[in-house]
Amino acid sequence: MPLWGGRFEGGPAEEMQAFSESLSVDLEMVDEDIEASLAHVTMLGEAGLVPAAEVEVLRQGLVRVREELADQTYRPGVEREDIHMAVEARLIELVGEAGGRLHTARSRNDQVATDVRLWLKRRLTALDEALERLIKVLLQRVKNDGRTLLPGFTHLQRGQPIWLGHHLLAHAWHLLRDRDRVRDARTRADLCPLGAGAMAGTPHPIDRTRTAEILGFRGIVPNAMDAVSSRDHEMEAVSACAILMVHLSRMAEELVLWSSAEFAFARLGEAWSTGSSIMPQKRNPDAAELVRGKTGRVLGNLQALMVMTKGLPLAYNRDLQEDRHALFDALTTTLACVRVTAGMWESLEVRRERYAQALEGDFLLATELADHLVEQGVPFREAHHAAGRLVAWCEARGGDFRLLTPEILQQHHPAFGPESLTVLDPVAAVERRRSAGGTAWTEVEAQAAALEAALG
Ligand code: ARG
Repeated sequence: MPLWGGRFEGGPAEEMQAFSESLSVDLEMVDEDIEASLAHVTMLGEAGLVPAAEVEVLRQGLVRVREELADQTYRPGVEREDIHMAVEARLIELVGEAGGRLHTARSRNDQVATDVRLWLKRRLTALDEALERLIKVLLQRVKNDGRTLLPGFTHLQRGQPIWLGHHLLAHAWHLLRDRDRVRDARTRADLCPLGAGAMAGTPHPIDRTRTAEILGFRGIVPNAMDAVSSRDHEMEAVSACAILMVHLSRMAEELVLWSSAEFAFARLGEAWSTGSSIMPQKRNPDAAELVRGKTGRVLGNLQALMVMTKGLPLAYNRDLQEDRHALFDALTTTLACVRVTAGMWESLEVRRERYAQALEGDFLLATELADHLVEQGVPFREAHHAAGRLVAWCEARGGDFRLLTPEILQQHHPAFGPESLTVLDPVAAVERRRSAGGTAWTEVEAQAAALEAALG
């Protein structure tokens, strides 16, 4: 008979037990469950609700249950339903009647809410640290290879030349905002629900603030109904993960493209690549592909949490038990993806010479011709047309800007002079873009310094 069996004559059907258990997923948060019980017992003792001698018995018993669960000498079955009842039942077996005092002034509703918040806070801290490391890896890349010439794309068509450092810092700024979102989510999750009871509080003189303090929360959830029924901190954490995964997925997509023979811009380290069982030449960017693929799962987790909650009347409903599948998977997957992405970027071999000459004469320098005319006083729109006509002129002859001569330029616009062709140099084009946040190396360095400062 389950711990709640008083008003029942028989137990639940076997199929119902298997259907209703959350123990299998709860095992991920055993430490948090025991920790919350230890804090609760300490508070109950201080409030005079449990005699001091029994407090000690309960504390020792809980520590023992934790050990037994860790070394699997205690393997609760589905008849225990969840981690809260598995722990309490074993405690009563170990210490006898005193074990029955543990559940004074609490309910599984505030227990589960507390365990999950403790678990979540820890994972968000780990995610924060992993993100910091990834951003540092990118900054190191900027220092080592940042001055590598690269075509910047729009629509995946060559747009303008840039330094690789400029490109990497764009990713790094995304990730810095992700870290801020993770921190915000952690701050809002950092309130303790324990002592809310089922929803209405308790007649016993407990001290919720004390429990919160022991558990390292910054305060208590002020409303007992809110404490047991809200899951927005989970949705917020998973949306931070979802946005972060979208960013990782975009980076992963670039790594896949860049390591193809067609781009041949970079090569993933062996530690982060795999081979093919049939094609001996293969070196596949599987780590990047998996990050891209797992993004779908995390986005799905966010959807699952929101849909699960949207129709629920206050306060606790059993539907909420489904939250951990989505939450645990989202946090665990995202954390792994951040770490793998850092590993990939750390081991990446950048082919620095790939575009060093390849961009000379390329039409991605067309904006240079237009901007050059603007510097001669020509309105930009008119300059844009002249540069466009020059592209068409070269294309019609099956060539690129290397076909141009000062005379040809002159025929297309009188403001072109004998020196105008010198603007068609990719490195010069990059270095001219010194406006704030531009790709010129001085700006890249300034951005890197600002990012480093923001990282703290
Ligand atoms: N296993 C439950 C969950 O995960 C714990 C709370 C159960 N509360 C209840 N009233 N049945 O949500």
